Amino acid sequence: MKQPRPVFVCQQCDAQSPKWQGRCTECGAWNSLVEERPTEAGPAAGGTASLAGHRYALPGSAGQGARKYADITAENAARLTTGIGEFDRVLGGGIVPGSLVLLGGEPGIGKSTLLLQAAANFAVTHGPVLYASGEESEHQIKSRGDRLGVGDAPLYLMAETCIERILEEIGRIHPAMLVIDSVQTVFSLKFQSAPGSIGQVREAATQFLFTAKGHNLPTFLVGHVTKEGSLAGPKALEHVVDTVLYFEGERHHSHRVVRAVKNRFGAISELGVFEMTGTGLVPVPNPSAMFLAERSVATPGSAVLCCVEGSRPLLVEVQALVSTSAYGMPRRMAVGIDQNRLSLLLAVLEKRAGLLVGGDDVFVNIAGGMSLDEPAADLAIVGALASSLRNRPLPPGTAVFGEVGLGGEVRGVPQAPLRIREAQQMGFTRVVMPAANVDPALERGGEGAIELVGIRHVGEALDHLLA
Ligand code: TYD
Ligand code: MG
Repeated sequence: MKQPRPVFVCQQCDAQSPKWQGRCTECGAWNSLVEERPTEAGPAAGGTASLAGHRYALPGSAGQGARKYADITAENAARLTTGIGEFDRVLGGGIVPGSLVLLGGEPGIGKSTLLLQAAANFAVTHGPVLYASGEESEHQIKSRGDRLGVGDAPLYLMAETCIERILEEIGRIHPAMLVIDSVQTVFSLKFQSAPGSIGQVREAATQFLFTAKGHNLPTFLVGHVTKEGSLAGPKALEHVVDTVLYFEGERHHSHRVVRAVKNRFGAISELGVFEMTGTGLVPVPNPSAMFLAERSVATPGSAVLCCVEGSRPLLVEVQALVSTSAYGMPRRMAVGIDQNRLSLLLAVLEKRAGLLVGGDDVFVNIAGGMSLDEPAADLAIVGALASSLRNRPLPPGTAVFGEVGLGGEVRGVPQAPLRIREAQQMGFTRVVMPAANVDPALERGGEGAIELVGIRHVGEALDHLLA
């Protein structure tokens, strides 16, 4: 029998090559090509090859051809709750039956902990859960479960890495939910490459996709991130799964943020905030209070930003430090915001507001390890920078939001009422914001008074903030 021809797959970008090369011709990564040899003869070990051998039908359309749109009844499958409010929230309101969810994050951040808690809760209300781990023994998981207070739930643990064995067990137990910890440790007998290689990861995701859709079985895959911070086999996995959740934040902080980066069933950027305690991850009911907890009010270089992540408004502290550079090359460092955004805002400040920072070191940090990519953060960053440069604190009780354009103009941002309400609830009395978003109906006097200061230009904002 003719041996299937090996292909060499770049582990960084998924490009394929018929022969080994020291450097991937597609993405330029060095030493990233790994041989993959499918056991079944196929055109190539690509995603389409592994898909070609299978068929799967979504529940409700099994075996039928194309149907007319008007004839299809919308099915709003009830969400299955995990009993952990913050986790349901990032999922878009609970688990959708038959959905495939990828939970990524650095090692030790709490992926296994969160899923074990969710699995145990889920098992109590919705039936058996199969938790297959390729990383820990059943005893290890059990002793963690004891810490987490997992009681007498129909939770089945299985220390197994072979996908075919896990599928057999699904046939036997008929679980209501499946957890695979982690997708990088499982392997299929159909592939000869090592677990964790891009071919195996893709195969695993595809096989679990078929099971999830075919059996209407909600499935969670744990995924590790690479050194660079992306999920291993990113492209291969992210388009296969329905939802990608990602653990953000640092291990050094006790709080953990889970963010939806893709969700076919809900808003992306939706956040769940947890705190890691001795008894597992505990939801944080008021994240704004947590992010502002250690803020010192009268310090120059600190601004409070009203941001919106998904559907949730959040107040976070933007910190900036502008100091004279000791060397010829001033340093620019941004933690939690995009470095390029910082450069842009510095240029705008210099050109449009006359604040010269050319020869200074500039550091910007979002307190609490949050990362922001909304343009609505601009005005708060500008405020913090100017405050540090002039060494004057921003007025107390003031929160800021707004996008800054290259002309120095301050532009309106979405969901302003949500931001204002959050600031008000957290006891802020003044919001410096884009003039376009000011709505007198939102302003309030008396108890819980809030003053809205509409701004058209960065210069005007600085006059208000550093008067
Ligand atoms: P874990 O869920 O094993 O991380 P991952 O699966 O993402 O690699 O989390 C391990 C960390 O969490 C470890 O550093 C210990 C800490 N932890 C607690 O602080 N409290 C707990 O109750 C548990 C179970 C873990
Ligand atoms: Mg783990």
